[in-house]
Amino acid sequence: MAHYFTNENIVSNEKNTSCIIRNHKFEFITDNGVFSKKGLDFGTRSLLENIDLDNIKGDVLDFGCGYGAIGIFIAKVKNIVPDMIDINLRALDLVTKNSKLNKVEVNAFESNIYSNVSKKYDFIITNPPIRVGNEILYEILIGAKEHLKKDGELWFVINKNQGAKTVIKRLSDHYVLETVKKNKGFYIIKAKPIDKS
Ligand SMILES: C[S@@+](CC[C@H](N)C(=O)[O-])C[C@H]1O[C@@H](n2cnc3c(N)ncnc32)[C@H](O)[C@@H]1O
Repeated sequence: MAHYFTNENIVSNEKNTSCIIRNHKFEFITDNGVFSKKGLDFGTRSLLENIDLDNIKGDVLDFGCGYGAIGIFIAKVKNIVPDMIDINLRALDLVTKNSKLNKVEVNAFESNIYSNVSKKYDFIITNPPIRVGNEILYEILIGAKEHLKKDGELWFVINKNQGAKTVIKRLSDHYVLETVKKNKGFYIIKAKPIDKS
């Protein structure tokens, strides 16, 4: 079976969606073979509605950007040009279209986990892929540490049914974690790397 995180040849069928996040209106083109074709995912919405927007500044990475909801939201609301990465080329093509549609500038590029990421960020924000399995999930979440500046923050959303508590426990060797909000089973988590120096 083809999954949204592969580049397998799934017939394209673009769809126009729209949503309001924190009083800002967005138009997003979605497609088959890309996460949450129906439009803004509830977990992603929960993350964006609860992230500490006032604090967000500097260099931002949207990891696993899909059609672009997180990065485009940050670009529009914070006037930041975020880096946005995904392994899925169709998703990246949608990010180009969606950034134009929402009149924002972003820097989107292909990356398998952090393979093409050379910068360090003030914020890494993600609704991480779960179906990729634990090994890759932890490469993403623990690996984020290496791509954060001193005092940088990783923000992510994960569902209780996807093992939120286990993930929090596992990450606690690497980060100081705060569950900022629980929303219908979705945990919104802020993680600050533990400084071992
Ligand atoms: C849960 S989706 C979130 C998409 C988008 N951020 C949103 O909230 O709608 C996770 C994303 O991670 C991407 N992904 C999966 N494996 C990846 C990898 N190895 N490297 C980079 N991105 C990956 C998928 O293609 C997918 O777009």
